[in-house]
Amino acid sequence: MRGCLLGLLLAGVCLAADRPEVVLADFEGATYGDWITKGTAFGTGPARGTLPGQMPVGGFKGKGLVNSFLGGDRAVGSLTSPEFRIDRRFLTFLIGGGGHAGQTCMNLLVEGKVVRTATGSNTEAGGSEELEPAGWDVGDLAGKKARLEIVDAATGGWGHINVDHIVLTDQKPVALARSVEREIRLEKRFLEFPVKTGAPKRRLSVLLDGKPWREFDIELTDQKPDLRAVLDVGTLRNRSVTLRAGKVSEKLLEVVQQVDAPTDEATIYQERARPQFHFTSRRGWLNDPNGLVYHRGEWHLFYQHNPYGWNWGNMHWGHAVSRDLFHWKEQPTALYPRSYGDWAFSGSAFVDRFDTLGERRGDEECLVLAYTSTGRGECLAFSRDRGRTWQELKENPVVRHAGRDPKVIWHAGTKRWIMAVYDEHAGKQWIAFHSSADLRTWTLESRIVGFYECPDLFEIAVTGKPDERRWVLYGADGQYVVGSFDGKTFRPEGGKQRVWWGNFYAAQTFSDAPDGRRVQIGWGQGITFPGTPFNQQMTVPCELTLRPGPERPRLHVEPVREIAGLHGKKRQWKDQALEPGKNLLAGVQGELFDLALDVAPDRAERIVLRVRGESVVYDARKETLVCKAGTIPLKLDAGRLRLRILVDRGSIELFGNDGAVAVSLGAPLWERPRTLELTAEGGNARVRSLDLIELRSAWTK
Ligand code: FRU
Repeated sequence: MRGCLLGLLLAGVCLAADRPEVVLADFEGATYGDWITKGTAFGTGPARGTLPGQMPVGGFKGKGLVNSFLGGDRAVGSLTSPEFRIDRRFLTFLIGGGGHAGQTCMNLLVEGKVVRTATGSNTEAGGSEELEPAGWDVGDLAGKKARLEIVDAATGGWGHINVDHIVLTDQKPVALARSVEREIRLEKRFLEFPVKTGAPKRRLSVLLDGKPWREFDIELTDQKPDLRAVLDVGTLRNRSVTLRAGKVSEKLLEVVQQVDAPTDEATIYQERARPQFHFTSRRGWLNDPNGLVYHRGEWHLFYQHNPYGWNWGNMHWGHAVSRDLFHWKEQPTALYPRSYGDWAFSGSAFVDRFDTLGERRGDEECLVLAYTSTGRGECLAFSRDRGRTWQELKENPVVRHAGRDPKVIWHAGTKRWIMAVYDEHAGKQWIAFHSSADLRTWTLESRIVGFYECPDLFEIAVTGKPDERRWVLYGADGQYVVGSFDGKTFRPEGGKQRVWWGNFYAAQTFSDAPDGRRVQIGWGQGITFPGTPFNQQMTVPCELTLRPGPERPRLHVEPVREIAGLHGKKRQWKDQALEPGKNLLAGVQGELFDLALDVAPDRAERIVLRVRGESVVYDARKETLVCKAGTIPLKLDAGRLRLRILVDRGSIELFGNDGAVAVSLGAPLWERPRTLELTAEGGNARVRSLDLIELRSAWTK
């Protein structure tokens, strides 16, 4: 059994020339073995990675680690090893979590006294749950008997500690090696960094005049890279910068190159898996859509972005613009972390139409971004050049609290700007509403409990009832409430409702959209593209409408009409019997489709669709849509089912009965046969109409 064995367990690889290293503990077992726990924070055995409510934990070895986030930051406790003999020169380990000396730490005890101590690296909001290699030179303690004690005595932010892979070794660990540097005189537009997912993650600093200009975590590699991250250094031409990294060899920094254009420019967007009409970042990780705003003919899409890796981290705001919501052109990074670990988390954008900020010069209104700077609070930045360059407000942060993800809107009734923002207050999760007349000073008006991150807040008319309007408060998980909002308090009318299911999170609607449209984009959370330089996609831009319902109005969601700009060849079927064992779409091949089906199940028990092998079943008895995203209630409408289906390379989106429900479903369709199947089970159904429209790629037009 590989567990927490002390002193005896020999690692597979012998690194030292003379004596093999000894793995003291790797926390792969179900229990802590002979280690003794106190309190609750450490549980009864090692964690298997990330715990509920925690940011993603990385950098540990194998599947298990010590992670005292059990019960959240509030839980406390300790974990103490059995006695062992210090019989190697160094003791190395991986450590992460809180950086509170004496509070979130690992101590080396000899004769009951703390002779060495180490902490994680985080004390401020934001930061990273990445474990880092660390170690002690214990040469002076040779032969002594010792214990390790992992302590979590902190209850506030970063009140937890993560430890893994504790090793006694004679080999000097890279963690103790001094950092290496390389000076570069900048003659080209970009610095390019080869990245391999899973390579050791290191902090890399680009120093300008001796001070960090950019700092980030990166899995730099001298092997074949998965991704070539680019850093725009165009503004620093003919100046020198120093690259500095800890715990790497000098040789590794040589892999960083200067280039006029990214090396992969010709192949980017050509990948076999690249979605053809859903937004993806050219390179790197993407999550929440941010700063959705329409201005002077352009739809702006900003997004949570890690330019230096395929996984979450280093949060920047990526940026793209489009004139039709489908053909996007990526722009330079809009927001950079202000300093290492002070990341630009989610937020919103709007047009400063009344020049409230007083920053307007000339005819064009300023665009404003509201975002969370993780080390500071809620911040604003403005642009005088249609979102191409940004300046921070000198008053930043304008709101300080334990929260994130500001959505700023204009409230005409009170003539105030309103910030709806996720707030952790009194141990609960709230959306707080702040108001402001000048965008620089904000007043807390109220809070509503029971909502998590990334709020959206908007007013919308009830379809067909032009005088009836409602306010909608929309949460990251896709649940929303309708109600009223007077500029101070949100009053819900009934409980939470949901229109979106499946791979869908942190959606936002565009500010300042023309014609009063409510256009929404979500993050297709978990839709992943292994083997490519990019990861995750946005969901298709959709229009929200609020339609009268039996108890209260309900949101409906349908793809925006601009998708017609990608329509190609259309085939139609009308009044066809759908018989068990017969595939109406036999012989149809292709990869990108906009399909609209109107079917009366009649005697059929199930209507079965298989899109490139991915099955979507309508259970006519139970009136549910059954697919990988779950079993979703969808009532027949006068005995009929209408389904609109968008098929891209990595996802299928379903819209049931004119958008009464919507589903985003991720699947590696690019790897599958290009077939479609439509059939009935248990009896005959009647297809009243089926329109199958091929879609063109948004990247080739
Ligand atoms: C939601 C979220 C936000 C945060 C951002 C960080 O997915 O956790 O609350 O601002 O992602 O990337």
